[in-house]
Amino acid sequence: MRVKTENDVVDIRAIWWENDSARAIDQRRLPHDFEVVTISTHDQMAEAISNMTVRGAPTIGAAGAYGMALAQKNGVDLDDAASALRATRPTANDLFHAIDAMLSEDDVRRAADSYADMIVAQCERIGKVGADLIDNEMKVLTHCNAGALATVDFGTALAPIRVAHRSGKKPFIFIDETRPRLQGAKLTAWELANEGIEHAIITDNAAGYYLKSEVEIVVVGADRIAANGDFANKIGTYEKAVVAKENGVPFYVAAPISTFDPFMASGDAIVIEQRTPNEVLFINSFRVAADGSRALNPSFDVTPAKFVTGFITEQGVLSADDLKGYIAGQEK
Ligand code: MRU
Repeated sequence: MRVKTENDVVDIRAIWWENDSARAIDQRRLPHDFEVVTISTHDQMAEAISNMTVRGAPTIGAAGAYGMALAQKNGVDLDDAASALRATRPTANDLFHAIDAMLSEDDVRRAADSYADMIVAQCERIGKVGADLIDNEMKVLTHCNAGALATVDFGTALAPIRVAHRSGKKPFIFIDETRPRLQGAKLTAWELANEGIEHAIITDNAAGYYLKSEVEIVVVGADRIAANGDFANKIGTYEKAVVAKENGVPFYVAAPISTFDPFMASGDAIVIEQRTPNEVLFINSFRVAADGSRALNPSFDVTPAKFVTGFITEQGVLSADDLKGYIAGQEK
């Protein structure tokens, strides 16, 4: 991804391997501080996934793969490392997909690099496939961050927007701020500003207002897509999908095939991560709620397939029915 630093413009991934360690952009510190952290053990990687130094489904897949590579380098039992890494965040399929893939590799470091390269190639393909859906000056709504930070590079939901912009189109992006961790306001806006793509941050509560009046298409990412097309994504996605349908606005989910879970029949079985209430009760260490109030903080919700116009994948734009056919083909 293109990052403007004080004196330079650099092209950098969200996570990579360098000098016998993993390196990652510390996403907790963006947009104001651009810091790269070094991760040297699988335990440190597990902590980086849990505390969201690295985040976004495909990026935590790559983080899981590099965590396994660190375990192999440090002589740690790979099954133990896999258990520790799997216990970090339950919802995104990519983490489990990547760890399982690494367990059958001899040279895990090389396999982890290939895994990261594969994700980036899939995202570039998603960008090309989805760009046709973005017309010139189209008004697009997105939720959370499904950009380069979330996918090693390039993005899923942001990939069609990037490709459309690079081809000379001028889309305008409404970005839900995405409480409580503000991935939209902090990360998606930062990525789009770095690329010079027109956008505005809106409160999560303003999305209905704009879906009724101005938004022409919604594109979001996904953390896990069940075999029937129900999908989990950042909390708040479900209500955006319902309001989009009510207003006749097409609603697309952009995701690589690693996010599809052919073994989960429907979204009812997806495990929803519950994060600390402090993410809701405090903003920047300042308690906004009354002492004595408590908070609930589900990190994801599940949107039924009936609200999805199409899935933008590296294999093309698939309907929920196409998906069933594709998954049946995979299982044979
Ligand atoms: O809690 P996060 O920030 O990891 O949640 C990320 C999302 O919900 C993204 O939309 C999803 O992972 C898709 S990323 C391409």
